[in-house]
Amino acid sequence: MRGTEVLTRTGASVAGVAQSAAESATAATTAGFRHLAWSWAGVPSGPLGWVSSHWTMPRLHSQLYKVMDRELALQPDDELLEVACGSAYFLAKYAGHVGRVAGLDLSDVQIDLARQRLADRISAGTAEIVQGDAGTLPWPDETFSVVTVMGSFECFPDPEKVLTELHRVLQPGGRAVMNIGEWVEPGTQTHRMLDALWVWSEEDVRRMVEQAGFTDVAMSYASTAVYQLDEFLSKHMGGIAADMRTVHATKA
Ligand SMILES: C[S@@+](CC[C@H](N)C(=O)[O-])C[C@H]1O[C@@H](n2cnc3c(N)ncnc32)[C@H](O)[C@@H]1O
Repeated sequence: MRGTEVLTRTGASVAGVAQSAAESATAATTAGFRHLAWSWAGVPSGPLGWVSSHWTMPRLHSQLYKVMDRELALQPDDELLEVACGSAYFLAKYAGHVGRVAGLDLSDVQIDLARQRLADRISAGTAEIVQGDAGTLPWPDETFSVVTVMGSFECFPDPEKVLTELHRVLQPGGRAVMNIGEWVEPGTQTHRMLDALWVWSEEDVRRMVEQAGFTDVAMSYASTAVYQLDEFLSKHMGGIAADMRTVHATKA
């Protein structure tokens, strides 16, 4: 083998090792970031989840709650289910006048706080907080007059299953008011960010909701920006963290 050939081959294998080391480092960083983000807000757990559920999430979602309050237009005779209710901040602050409320969430930290927030109503028998998976709701068919989800749909591994369950537990004539993702640039394909969070095109959301059996599907968009960070993310991440998408639908 000639000297130049040895040098070329050695250079190629050093480059190959460097490239795979860089790829491994990137994968590890992505996995680490994903883990942190998931315990922070996906399914809050551990110290990060505690801080998020007790402190940051209610603040970061303050505008989201206001928009959902307006869109839901809850009435005293409603029977409301919030799936992925988190710490029940919305149920406690905006659904105090609603006859019966129920919330379901997967996270221990969130469930503990939700039960504390609604302790009086749980004792009075007008509220129920259940730990469980959004894809398998523990209520019989046609239990609720209104179902809602906010700030959470992006986390569900099988969103179609959740929609089917929401439709099942809704009474005929009942309404679903759901925040499903956010505005995206026209032409954006539905995909998952960091292998975890769904980003949906409007057409795919409509298709999913209709396939679950809902009718009268309508969508609107509203800003939930609380801090300038939201504006920055929106500008640099193709619409992510931009205007939230609210989906209204009914069960015939
Ligand atoms: C960003 S938080 C939003 C919580 C609440 N909706 C709010 O706005 O305050 C997302 C919530 O979805 C819950 N979650 C994620 N995946 C879930 C699943 N498969 N079933 C039930 N809850 C889930 C998490 O535990 C977390 O509390």
